[in-house]
Amino acid sequence: MTEMMKEKKTQIPEFSNVSILNCIDLSSPDVQSTVSLLRQVCLDSGFFYVINHGIDKEFMDEVFSQSKRFFNLPNEDKMKLLRNKKNRGYAPLFDQSLDPANQMHGDYKEGYYIGVEVSEDHSDAQKPFYGPNRWPSEDMLPKWRETMEKYFQGALDVAKSISRLLALALGLNVDFFCQPGILGKSIATLKLLHYEDQISEPANGIFGAGAHSDFGLITLLATDDNYGLQICKDKDAKPQIWEYVPPLKGAFIVNIGDMLERWSNCFFRSTLHRVLGNGQERYSIAFFVELNHDCVVECLPTCQSEKNPPKFTPIKYEDYLLQRYKDTHVDLNTYK
Ligand code: OGA
Ligand code: NI
Repeated sequence: MTEMMKEKKTQIPEFSNVSILNCIDLSSPDVQSTVSLLRQVCLDSGFFYVINHGIDKEFMDEVFSQSKRFFNLPNEDKMKLLRNKKNRGYAPLFDQSLDPANQMHGDYKEGYYIGVEVSEDHSDAQKPFYGPNRWPSEDMLPKWRETMEKYFQGALDVAKSISRLLALALGLNVDFFCQPGILGKSIATLKLLHYEDQISEPANGIFGAGAHSDFGLITLLATDDNYGLQICKDKDAKPQIWEYVPPLKGAFIVNIGDMLERWSNCFFRSTLHRVLGNGQERYSIAFFVELNHDCVVECLPTCQSEKNPPKFTPIKYEDYLLQRYKDTHVDLNTYK
């Protein structure tokens, strides 16, 4: 058999099914224009690229290689680092179903969760989602922990820069989201992701990741060069129209999460998205920007009026997030 024939069949998206997202340039000196573009984008799809964010390409490549190194380990080594009840560690194939009602199996992906490092003897370690991370040993994967910790910090800094622009776009004080009570001790979570080389079948409920919108404030997604991510701008349209988001080297694909939609009284949009496998393996890295445990999210005064009263009741973030995780993950007892 020739090399060509041996190559797996892949599905290349048609140009008509590709979405052109706006680019937010974090290095632009014209903050006013950046904010007005961002505002427009958040009203439209809530999905945008972020460029010139300060994390250099070489380092990004290093994070992806380290992520691949982990997923290439034998299954039994990965299972030794199975995610714990604080949601730190390895998430095997089918651990998550992002759209359980429409999926035949769970998502065809495996993942690895990393959060804020909180030592066992710290009082915060009592809180859900907080505690020590699970790390592969230095012998097994040299510099792995160091790389991931550095990336975590870098992504959090980028997230704070974006949230300053978002605050301005909502007519708030520039540091509104960066207050200690909101993002100061956030449940920020890094999730390394590896999708199987399988072809999704939407009609049969087979997806790389089922349709969903993200839970928190925003998500910063870094992807490899493979197509897979799709967005649906109008979830009520019948039939739904799904468009691919092209990978953009060096950029983050950023999207608004459900909590920001809620905070802004649906002024900003969290948009439905999913991942289709196209026959090639795919790696991505999501950084979920969640809030502090005890942050109570209440409709912003700038987003309500007599004609537009609050659509949601106030909610405490940790209760909300626990429920979202419970609804989309298998119970840990499944692995016993
Ligand atoms: C997610 C997600 C997209 C991707 O994990 O919430 O939407 O491309 N991931 O991996
Ligand atoms: Ni998502």
